[in-house]
Amino acid sequence: MAYVELNIDDTRSFLSVEPESLQKKVNELHKVIHEKTGLGNDYLGWLDLPKTYDKEEYARILLAAKKIRKQSKVLVVIGIGGSYLGAKAGLEFLNTPFKKNKLEIVFAGHQMSGTYLNRLLDYLKNKSFSVNVISKSGTTTEPAIAFRVLKKALEEKYGVEGAKERIYATTDKKRGALFSVAKKNGYEMFVIPDDIGGRYSVLTAVGLLPLQAAGLSTKTILKGALDAYKRFSKPNLASNEAYLYAVTRYLLYTSGKKVEMLVGYEPNLLYLNEWWKQLFGESEGKDHKGLFVASAGFSTDLHSLGQYIQEGERHLFETVIKVFETELDVFVPEEENDLDELNYLKGKTLSYVNSQALKGTMMAHKDGLVPNMLLTIPKMDGYTFGYLIYFFEKACAMSAYLIDVNPFNQPGVEAYKKNMFALLGKKGYENIIK
Ligand code: PA5
Repeated sequence: MAYVELNIDDTRSFLSVEPESLQKKVNELHKVIHEKTGLGNDYLGWLDLPKTYDKEEYARILLAAKKIRKQSKVLVVIGIGGSYLGAKAGLEFLNTPFKKNKLEIVFAGHQMSGTYLNRLLDYLKNKSFSVNVISKSGTTTEPAIAFRVLKKALEEKYGVEGAKERIYATTDKKRGALFSVAKKNGYEMFVIPDDIGGRYSVLTAVGLLPLQAAGLSTKTILKGALDAYKRFSKPNLASNEAYLYAVTRYLLYTSGKKVEMLVGYEPNLLYLNEWWKQLFGESEGKDHKGLFVASAGFSTDLHSLGQYIQEGERHLFETVIKVFETELDVFVPEEENDLDELNYLKGKTLSYVNSQALKGTMMAHKDGLVPNMLLTIPKMDGYTFGYLIYFFEKACAMSAYLIDVNPFNQPGVEAYKKNMFALLGKKGYENIIK
Protein backbone atom coordinates (compact mmCIF):
# COMPACT_ATOMS: atom_id res chain seq x y z
CA MET A 1 0.00 0.00 0.00
CA ALA A 2 1.28 3.43 -0.89
CA TYR A 3 1.85 5.67 2.12
CA VAL A 4 1.89 8.76 -0.07
CA GLU A 5 -0.60 8.61 -2.90
CA LEU A 6 0.02 10.21 -6.27
CA ASN A 7 -2.94 10.83 -8.53
CA ILE A 8 -1.98 11.97 -12.04
CA ASP A 9 -5.44 11.62 -13.65
CA ASP A 10 -5.72 15.38 -14.21
CA THR A 11 -2.51 15.43 -16.23
CA ARG A 12 -3.15 12.55 -18.62
CA SER A 13 -5.07 14.51 -21.24
CA PHE A 14 -2.11 16.94 -21.48
CA LEU A 15 0.51 14.26 -22.12
CA SER A 16 1.66 13.04 -25.52
CA VAL A 17 2.17 9.50 -24.19
CA GLU A 18 1.20 7.64 -21.03
CA PRO A 19 3.90 7.82 -18.30
CA GLU A 20 3.81 4.03 -18.08
CA SER A 21 5.17 3.84 -21.64
CA LEU A 22 8.50 5.14 -20.29
CA GLN A 23 8.95 2.15 -18.00
CA LYS A 24 11.91 0.81 -19.97
CA LYS A 25 13.75 4.12 -19.81
CA VAL A 26 12.98 4.34 -16.09
CA ASN A 27 14.39 0.84 -15.55
CA GLU A 28 17.61 1.87 -17.28
CA LEU A 29 17.97 5.08 -15.27
CA HIS A 30 17.12 3.26 -12.05
CA LYS A 31 20.08 1.02 -12.77
CA VAL A 32 22.23 4.06 -13.48
CA ILE A 33 21.24 5.54 -10.11
CA HIS A 34 21.68 2.34 -8.10
CA GLU A 35 24.85 1.18 -9.82
CA LYS A 36 26.21 4.71 -9.53
CA THR A 37 27.25 5.00 -13.15
CA GLY A 38 25.58 8.30 -14.10
CA LEU A 39 26.55 11.96 -14.03
CA GLY A 40 27.61 13.10 -10.57
CA ASN A 41 27.84 9.53 -9.32
CA ASP A 42 30.17 10.57 -6.49
CA TYR A 43 27.21 12.22 -4.78
CA LEU A 44 24.84 9.35 -4.27
CA GLY A 45 25.52 8.88 -0.56
CA TRP A 46 21.94 9.99 0.24
CA LEU A 47 20.55 6.98 -1.66
CA ASP A 48 21.11 4.37 1.08
CA LEU A 49 21.44 6.86 3.92
CA PRO A 50 18.20 5.91 5.75
CA LYS A 51 19.74 2.45 6.19
CA THR A 52 23.44 3.12 6.35
CA TYR A 53 23.65 6.35 8.35
CA ASP A 54 26.45 6.53 10.90
CA LYS A 55 24.87 5.15 14.08
CA GLU A 56 27.71 6.33 16.30
CA GLU A 57 27.44 9.86 15.07
CA TYR A 58 23.67 9.69 15.45
CA ALA A 59 24.14 8.79 19.13
CA ARG A 60 26.35 11.89 19.48
CA ILE A 61 23.66 14.00 17.81
CA LEU A 62 21.14 12.86 20.43
CA LEU A 63 23.54 13.74 23.24
CA ALA A 64 24.45 17.11 21.75
CA ALA A 65 20.76 17.96 21.30
CA LYS A 66 20.15 17.13 24.96
CA LYS A 67 23.10 19.28 26.02
CA ILE A 68 21.92 22.22 23.89
CA ARG A 69 18.43 22.02 25.41
CA LYS A 70 19.94 22.03 28.89
CA GLN A 71 22.41 24.83 28.36
CA SER A 72 20.41 27.30 26.23
CA LYS A 73 17.09 28.95 25.60
CA VAL A 74 17.99 29.70 21.96
CA LEU A 75 19.89 27.73 19.32
CA VAL A 76 21.19 29.79 16.42
CA VAL A 77 21.50 27.60 13.33
CA ILE A 78 23.90 29.15 10.83
CA GLY A 79 23.80 27.97 7.22
CA ILE A 80 22.46 28.65 3.75
CA GLY A 81 20.97 26.62 0.89
CA GLY A 82 21.17 22.92 1.65
CA SER A 83 22.76 23.75 4.99
CA TYR A 84 19.64 25.65 6.03
CA LEU A 85 16.46 24.76 4.15
CA GLY A 86 16.01 21.14 5.26
CA ALA A 87 16.06 21.94 8.97
CA LYS A 88 13.85 24.98 8.39
CA ALA A 89 11.37 22.91 6.36
CA GLY A 90 11.24 20.22 9.07
CA LEU A 91 10.77 22.72 11.87
CA GLU A 92 7.94 24.43 10.02
CA PHE A 93 6.33 21.16 8.92
CA LEU A 94 6.25 19.93 12.51
CA ASN A 95 5.75 23.25 14.21
CA THR A 96 2.82 23.85 16.55
CA PRO A 97 1.84 27.46 15.89
CA PHE A 98 1.51 29.78 18.88
CA LYS A 99 3.25 27.30 21.18
CA LYS A 100 6.32 28.48 23.04
CA ASN A 101 9.03 25.84 22.83
CA LYS A 102 11.58 25.02 25.53
CA LEU A 103 14.32 25.75 23.01
CA GLU A 104 13.81 28.38 20.35
CA ILE A 105 15.56 27.82 17.02
CA VAL A 106 16.55 30.88 15.05
CA PHE A 107 18.53 31.07 11.83
CA ALA A 108 21.44 33.19 10.65
CA GLY A 109 23.83 33.19 7.72
CA HIS A 110 21.05 32.49 5.22
CA GLN A 111 21.30 36.03 3.85
CA MET A 112 23.57 39.02 4.40
CA SER A 113 21.27 41.55 6.00
CA GLY A 114 23.11 43.67 8.55
CA THR A 115 19.80 44.74 10.01
CA TYR A 116 18.77 41.13 10.63
CA LEU A 117 22.06 40.17 12.26
CA ASN A 118 22.15 43.31 14.37
CA ARG A 119 18.63 42.64 15.64
CA LEU A 120 19.49 39.01 16.31
CA LEU A 121 22.49 40.03 18.40
CA ASP A 122 20.26 42.37 20.32
CA TYR A 123 17.66 39.62 20.83
CA LEU A 124 20.31 37.24 22.14
CA LYS A 125 21.80 39.74 24.61
CA ASN A 126 19.87 38.58 27.65
CA LYS A 127 19.32 34.97 26.61
CA SER A 128 21.42 31.87 26.95
CA PHE A 129 22.29 30.62 23.48
CA SER A 130 24.28 28.05 21.53
CA VAL A 131 25.31 27.95 17.89
CA ASN A 132 25.20 25.18 15.30
CA VAL A 133 27.22 26.36 12.33
CA ILE A 134 26.67 24.29 9.20
CA SER A 135 28.68 24.48 5.99
CA LYS A 136 29.92 21.60 3.89
CA SER A 137 32.53 23.63 2.03
CA GLY A 138 33.23 25.66 5.14
CA THR A 139 33.90 28.71 3.01
CA THR A 140 30.45 30.01 2.06
CA THR A 141 30.45 33.76 2.67
CA GLU A 142 27.03 34.20 4.27
CA PRO A 143 27.39 31.64 7.09
CA ALA A 144 31.10 32.40 7.51
CA ILE A 145 30.40 36.06 8.30
CA ALA A 146 27.46 35.23 10.56
CA PHE A 147 29.57 32.69 12.43
CA ARG A 148 32.46 35.09 12.92
CA VAL A 149 30.05 37.65 14.41
CA LEU A 150 28.15 35.17 16.61
CA LYS A 151 31.33 33.46 17.79
CA LYS A 152 32.55 36.84 19.01
CA ALA A 153 29.24 37.43 20.78
CA LEU A 154 29.45 34.02 22.44
CA GLU A 155 33.05 34.57 23.49
CA GLU A 156 32.22 37.97 24.96
CA LYS A 157 29.34 36.48 26.89
CA TYR A 158 30.80 33.16 28.07
CA GLY A 159 34.57 33.54 27.56
CA VAL A 160 36.53 31.55 24.99
CA GLU A 161 36.26 28.31 26.99
CA GLY A 162 32.55 28.76 27.69
CA ALA A 163 31.84 29.53 24.03
CA LYS A 164 33.63 26.36 23.05
CA GLU A 165 31.01 24.38 24.98
CA ARG A 166 28.23 26.06 23.00
CA ILE A 167 29.48 25.80 19.44
CA TYR A 168 28.62 22.78 17.30
CA ALA A 169 30.14 22.64 13.82
CA THR A 170 28.66 20.51 11.05
CA THR A 171 31.06 20.34 8.11
CA ASP A 172 33.35 18.24 5.96
CA LYS A 173 35.25 15.50 7.76
CA LYS A 174 38.73 16.72 6.89
CA ARG A 175 38.89 19.96 4.97
CA GLY A 176 37.64 23.53 4.63
CA ALA A 177 37.95 26.72 6.66
CA LEU A 178 35.17 25.76 9.09
CA PHE A 179 36.82 22.39 9.64
CA SER A 180 40.10 24.15 10.52
CA VAL A 181 38.45 26.66 12.87
CA ALA A 182 36.46 23.92 14.62
CA LYS A 183 39.43 21.62 14.94
CA LYS A 184 41.73 24.33 16.26
CA ASN A 185 39.20 25.50 18.83
CA GLY A 186 38.03 22.05 19.88
CA TYR A 187 34.35 22.49 18.97
CA GLU A 188 32.14 19.44 18.85
CA MET A 189 31.98 18.42 15.18
CA PHE A 190 29.52 16.54 12.99
CA VAL A 191 30.24 15.32 9.51
CA ILE A 192 28.60 16.00 6.17
CA PRO A 193 29.70 12.93 4.22
CA ASP A 194 31.80 13.50 1.08
CA ASP A 195 29.24 11.79 -1.10
CA ILE A 196 26.22 13.87 0.00
CA GLY A 197 25.66 17.32 -1.49
CA GLY A 198 24.05 20.18 0.44
CA ARG A 199 20.50 19.86 -0.84
CA TYR A 200 20.45 16.10 -0.23
CA SER A 201 21.81 16.43 3.30
CA VAL A 202 18.73 16.98 5.45
CA LEU A 203 18.87 13.44 6.86
CA THR A 204 22.48 13.91 8.01
CA ALA A 205 23.57 15.96 11.05
CA VAL A 206 22.76 19.02 8.91
CA GLY A 207 19.04 18.52 9.54
CA LEU A 208 19.04 16.03 12.38
CA LEU A 209 20.86 18.08 15.02
CA PRO A 210 18.64 21.20 14.79
CA LEU A 211 15.49 19.07 14.54
CA GLN A 212 16.41 16.89 17.51
CA ALA A 213 17.47 19.95 19.51
CA ALA A 214 14.05 21.44 18.80
CA GLY A 215 12.57 18.49 20.68
CA LEU A 216 11.42 16.55 17.60
CA SER A 217 11.90 12.83 17.17
CA THR A 218 14.49 12.37 14.45
CA LYS A 219 14.14 8.63 15.00
CA THR A 220 10.63 8.88 13.59
CA ILE A 221 11.83 11.04 10.70
CA LEU A 222 14.50 8.46 9.85
CA LYS A 223 11.91 5.67 10.05
CA GLY A 224 9.75 7.49 7.50
CA ALA A 225 12.77 7.92 5.22
CA LEU A 226 13.68 4.25 5.62
CA ASP A 227 10.20 3.11 4.59
CA ALA A 228 10.33 5.42 1.57
CA TYR A 229 13.77 4.05 0.73
CA LYS A 230 12.32 0.52 0.71
CA ARG A 231 9.23 1.49 -1.26
CA PHE A 232 11.22 3.28 -3.96
CA SER A 233 13.98 0.70 -4.28
CA LYS A 234 12.28 -0.90 -7.31
CA PRO A 235 11.59 0.93 -10.57
CA ASN A 236 8.08 -0.29 -11.33
CA LEU A 237 5.95 2.81 -11.98
CA ALA A 238 2.87 1.08 -10.59
CA SER A 239 4.40 1.05 -7.11
CA ASN A 240 7.12 3.68 -7.25
CA GLU A 241 5.27 6.98 -6.80
CA ALA A 242 8.54 8.94 -6.74
CA TYR A 243 9.41 7.78 -10.26
CA LEU A 244 5.83 8.23 -11.47
CA TYR A 245 6.01 11.82 -10.27
CA ALA A 246 9.38 12.30 -12.02
CA VAL A 247 8.13 10.85 -15.30
CA THR A 248 4.89 12.83 -15.25
CA ARG A 249 6.65 16.13 -14.66
CA TYR A 250 9.14 15.21 -17.40
CA LEU A 251 6.31 14.57 -19.87
CA LEU A 252 4.60 17.80 -18.91
CA TYR A 253 7.90 19.62 -19.39
CA THR A 254 8.46 18.14 -22.84
CA SER A 255 4.88 19.00 -23.80
CA GLY A 256 5.59 22.71 -23.18
CA LYS A 257 4.76 23.20 -19.51
CA LYS A 258 7.93 24.92 -18.34
CA VAL A 259 6.92 25.89 -14.80
CA GLU A 260 5.95 23.60 -11.94
CA MET A 261 4.26 25.02 -8.89
CA LEU A 262 4.21 23.07 -5.65
CA VAL A 263 1.14 24.09 -3.72
CA GLY A 264 -0.23 23.17 -0.34
CA TYR A 265 -3.24 24.12 1.72
CA GLU A 266 -1.57 24.08 5.14
CA PRO A 267 0.74 26.91 6.28
CA ASN A 268 3.12 24.35 7.81
CA LEU A 269 4.01 23.28 4.27
CA LEU A 270 5.43 26.64 3.19
CA TYR A 271 9.06 25.83 3.93
CA LEU A 272 8.81 22.37 2.46
CA ASN A 273 8.10 24.32 -0.72
CA GLU A 274 11.31 26.30 -0.23
CA TRP A 275 13.38 23.16 0.36
CA TRP A 276 11.76 21.50 -2.68
CA LYS A 277 12.52 24.53 -4.87
CA GLN A 278 16.19 24.32 -3.99
CA LEU A 279 16.27 20.58 -4.52
CA PHE A 280 14.76 20.65 -7.99
CA GLY A 281 15.90 24.11 -9.11
CA GLU A 282 19.56 23.56 -8.30
CA SER A 283 19.53 19.95 -9.48
CA GLU A 284 17.85 20.42 -12.85
CA GLY A 285 18.36 24.01 -13.95
CA LYS A 286 21.48 23.66 -16.08
CA ASP A 287 22.63 23.27 -19.68
CA HIS A 288 19.73 25.63 -20.53
CA LYS A 289 17.26 22.96 -19.47
CA GLY A 290 14.91 22.19 -16.60
CA LEU A 291 11.55 23.17 -15.21
CA PHE A 292 11.37 26.49 -13.40
CA VAL A 293 10.10 25.60 -9.95
CA ALA A 294 7.76 27.91 -8.07
CA SER A 295 5.41 27.50 -5.15
CA ALA A 296 2.34 28.83 -3.47
CA GLY A 297 0.39 28.50 -0.25
CA PHE A 298 -3.34 28.18 -0.88
CA SER A 299 -5.87 29.45 -0.29
CA THR A 300 -3.80 32.55 0.61
CA ASP A 301 -2.18 32.79 -2.82
CA LEU A 302 -5.42 32.13 -4.65
CA HIS A 303 -6.04 35.76 -3.75
CA SER A 304 -2.82 36.83 -5.46
CA LEU A 305 -1.22 34.37 -7.88
CA GLY A 306 -4.55 32.63 -8.42
CA GLN A 307 -5.48 35.02 -11.22
CA TYR A 308 -2.28 34.28 -13.12
CA ILE A 309 -2.59 30.55 -12.65
CA GLN A 310 -6.15 30.57 -13.94
CA GLU A 311 -5.71 32.86 -16.92
CA GLY A 312 -2.08 33.86 -17.49
CA GLU A 313 0.54 32.29 -19.77
CA ARG A 314 -0.25 28.58 -20.20
CA HIS A 315 3.19 27.22 -19.34
CA LEU A 316 2.33 25.98 -15.86
CA PHE A 317 1.40 22.83 -14.09
CA GLU A 318 0.82 22.21 -10.41
CA THR A 319 1.70 19.53 -7.91
CA VAL A 320 -0.78 19.81 -5.08
CA ILE A 321 -0.08 18.43 -1.62
CA LYS A 322 -3.18 17.37 0.24
CA VAL A 323 -3.08 16.46 3.92
CA PHE A 324 -5.62 13.69 4.39
CA GLU A 325 -6.06 13.95 8.13
CA THR A 326 -5.61 17.28 9.86
CA GLU A 327 -4.56 17.20 13.48
CA LEU A 328 -7.14 19.62 14.85
CA ASP A 329 -10.24 21.31 13.55
CA VAL A 330 -12.78 24.02 14.10
CA PHE A 331 -16.50 23.90 13.43
CA VAL A 332 -18.27 26.83 11.80
CA PRO A 333 -20.72 28.02 14.46
CA GLU A 334 -24.36 28.83 13.73
CA GLU A 335 -25.59 32.38 14.15
CA GLU A 336 -29.21 33.21 14.59
CA ASN A 337 -29.43 36.26 12.34
CA ASP A 338 -26.95 34.94 9.71
CA LEU A 339 -25.94 38.47 8.72
CA ASP A 340 -22.63 37.20 7.32
CA GLU A 341 -24.57 34.54 5.35
CA LEU A 342 -22.42 31.71 6.58
CA ASN A 343 -25.12 29.51 8.07
CA TYR A 344 -24.98 27.29 5.00
CA LEU A 345 -21.67 26.11 6.49
CA LYS A 346 -22.89 25.69 10.07
CA GLY A 347 -21.54 22.55 11.70
CA LYS A 348 -19.00 22.01 8.90
CA THR A 349 -15.33 21.81 9.81
CA LEU A 350 -12.75 24.20 8.44
CA SER A 351 -10.77 21.27 7.02
CA TYR A 352 -13.88 20.23 5.09
CA VAL A 353 -14.14 23.75 3.64
CA ASN A 354 -10.40 23.68 2.88
CA SER A 355 -10.70 20.32 1.10
CA GLN A 356 -13.55 21.61 -1.04
CA ALA A 357 -11.41 24.65 -1.91
CA LEU A 358 -8.68 22.24 -3.02
CA LYS A 359 -11.08 20.19 -5.12
CA GLY A 360 -12.73 23.22 -6.71
CA THR A 361 -9.38 24.85 -7.46
CA MET A 362 -7.97 21.74 -9.10
CA MET A 363 -11.05 21.51 -11.31
CA ALA A 364 -10.87 25.20 -12.23
CA HIS A 365 -7.15 25.08 -12.98
CA LYS A 366 -7.51 21.98 -15.12
CA ASP A 367 -10.31 23.72 -17.05
CA GLY A 368 -7.93 26.67 -17.40
CA LEU A 369 -5.40 24.29 -19.02
CA VAL A 370 -3.19 23.94 -15.96
CA PRO A 371 -2.67 20.21 -15.40
CA ASN A 372 -2.27 19.13 -11.82
CA MET A 373 -1.01 16.15 -9.89
CA LEU A 374 -2.36 15.37 -6.45
CA LEU A 375 0.00 14.10 -3.80
CA THR A 376 -1.93 12.98 -0.74
CA ILE A 377 -0.05 12.62 2.52
CA PRO A 378 -1.85 10.95 5.43
CA LYS A 379 -0.87 13.56 8.03
CA MET A 380 1.79 16.03 9.02
CA ASP A 381 4.09 14.23 11.41
CA GLY A 382 7.80 13.37 11.62
CA TYR A 383 7.36 10.05 9.84
CA THR A 384 5.65 11.75 6.90
CA PHE A 385 8.31 14.45 6.77
CA GLY A 386 11.09 11.84 6.52
CA TYR A 387 9.12 9.91 3.93
CA LEU A 388 8.51 13.03 1.80
CA ILE A 389 12.15 14.09 1.92
CA TYR A 390 13.24 10.77 0.51
CA PHE A 391 10.35 10.71 -1.97
CA PHE A 392 11.45 14.03 -3.48
CA GLU A 393 15.16 13.19 -3.41
CA LYS A 394 14.62 9.97 -5.31
CA ALA A 395 12.23 11.68 -7.73
CA CYS A 396 14.73 14.47 -8.31
CA ALA A 397 17.57 12.13 -9.26
CA MET A 398 15.32 10.33 -11.77
CA SER A 399 13.91 13.58 -13.07
CA ALA A 400 17.32 15.15 -13.72
CA TYR A 401 18.59 12.02 -15.44
CA LEU A 402 15.51 12.05 -17.67
CA ILE A 403 16.65 15.41 -19.06
CA ASP A 404 20.26 14.26 -19.05
CA VAL A 405 21.71 16.70 -16.55
CA ASN A 406 23.89 16.12 -13.49
CA PRO A 407 21.50 16.25 -10.49
CA PHE A 408 24.27 16.78 -7.97
CA ASN A 409 26.33 19.78 -9.02
CA GLN A 410 25.52 23.50 -9.14
CA PRO A 411 28.15 25.17 -11.34
CA GLY A 412 25.89 28.17 -12.01
CA VAL A 413 25.96 29.45 -8.44
CA GLU A 414 29.65 30.31 -8.78
CA ALA A 415 29.04 33.13 -11.28
CA TYR A 416 27.62 35.67 -8.82
CA LYS A 417 30.20 34.72 -6.20
CA LYS A 418 33.14 35.53 -8.49
CA ASN A 419 31.77 38.99 -9.24
CA MET A 420 30.96 39.61 -5.59
CA PHE A 421 34.46 38.57 -4.49
CA ALA A 422 36.02 40.80 -7.15
CA LEU A 423 33.88 43.74 -6.04
CA LEU A 424 34.78 43.09 -2.40
CA GLY A 425 38.49 42.96 -3.22
CA LYS A 426 39.11 39.31 -2.30
CA LYS A 427 42.60 38.11 -3.20
CA GLY A 428 42.72 36.13 -6.44
CA TYR A 429 39.62 37.74 -7.97
CA GLU A 430 41.23 41.02 -9.12
CA ASN A 431 40.84 40.39 -12.85
CA ILE A 432 37.29 39.01 -12.93
CA ILE A 433 35.53 42.28 -13.77
CA LYS A 434 37.04 44.05 -16.78
O1 PA5 B 1 23.00 22.15 -2.47
C1 PA5 B 1 24.08 22.70 -2.35
O2 PA5 B 1 25.15 22.08 -2.44
C2 PA5 B 1 24.20 24.18 -2.03
O3 PA5 B 1 22.97 24.83 -2.04
C3 PA5 B 1 24.83 24.39 -0.66
O4 PA5 B 1 24.08 23.70 0.30
C4 PA5 B 1 24.93 25.84 -0.25
O5 PA5 B 1 25.57 26.57 -1.24
C5 PA5 B 1 25.70 25.98 1.05
O6 PA5 B 1 26.96 25.41 0.93
P1 PA5 B 1 27.86 25.05 2.16
O7 PA5 B 1 27.16 24.01 2.96
O8 PA5 B 1 29.13 24.56 1.57
O9 PA5 B 1 28.05 26.31 2.96
